[in-house]
Amino acid sequence: MGRPYVFITRKLPDDIVAPLYDKYDVNMWPHEHLVVPRDVLLQEASRAEALITMLSDRIDEELLKQSPKLRVVANVAVGYDNIDVEAATKRGIIVCNTPDVLTETTADLTFALLLATARRLIEAAEFIKEGKWKSWSPLLLAGTDVHHKTIGIVGMGKIGQAVAHRAKGFHMRVLYYNRSRNMEAERTLGAMYCSFDELLEQADFVVCLAPLTNETYQLFNREAFMKMKRSAMFINAGRGAVVDEEALYDALINRHIAGAGLDVFAQEPIRSDHPLLQLPNVVALPHIGSATKETRYAMMQLCCRNVIAVLEGKKPYTPVQS
Ligand code: DGY
Repeated sequence: MGRPYVFITRKLPDDIVAPLYDKYDVNMWPHEHLVVPRDVLLQEASRAEALITMLSDRIDEELLKQSPKLRVVANVAVGYDNIDVEAATKRGIIVCNTPDVLTETTADLTFALLLATARRLIEAAEFIKEGKWKSWSPLLLAGTDVHHKTIGIVGMGKIGQAVAHRAKGFHMRVLYYNRSRNMEAERTLGAMYCSFDELLEQADFVVCLAPLTNETYQLFNREAFMKMKRSAMFINAGRGAVVDEEALYDALINRHIAGAGLDVFAQEPIRSDHPLLQLPNVVALPHIGSATKETRYAMMQLCCRNVIAVLEGKKPYTPVQS
């Protein structure tokens, strides 16, 4: 019997994947910035016992049914909406993600995005570099305060809780809406559970950290944006498809809300001529929530450890429960 075959769908650093090369036959897609084409992915998966995947790879029924040897899919992300977990589980294939290691880093970025949107940091940075600064002026690039305002967090998992923790440091009132109550956030941070509508009506900053599921798909629709305060800002560091982007655009252009900070989009990468990207009150980032070297290394390492555990017949560290 040959060594198990492992396919990695993106070029990862050599020192991270070295433990896999020691034990298995490993093939790694050689590009760091190019998504593996679907036909290559299907072909590779058909002979692999393990896949290390990115959130840009669709691991669906079509792929799974052509991959008879597959035992584990380790996704380099905490979100796993790119994977049909139910179909994998039915076939006895274990799906793993990367929770915990990215919590604080993603919360940092989420709060940075909130601050950048509120205080117009990107506009201001472009303004000075473009030589537009002529004098100090009373209302030059005046934004909106963050401290002592109300933050409404939709999706109070670990990252939501870490964002709430940061908000507390800014003396913010913390509201949240979640599938179930987060008693720890309530006890330790004074976060207040409320309905989705109450949150929309009261929050100065509505922060979406919800995973993409059938229930959350386009949760932020036209009606949701209409319920927000006209002075409120919408921050999304969860998943783009949780938002109806046309409705968001209309809400921004019609001044039903004051601004948006977006790290995620329904289509990624978003086209540079997308209407949302043309608005000055939109801060847009290319899905970098967990993108620090330390955290991305930790995520990749965890994926390798999960693969090794499953291929050695042991329990994976961070399996996704279907
Ligand atoms: C995740 O882990 O799901 C993030 O969106 C990727 O940074």
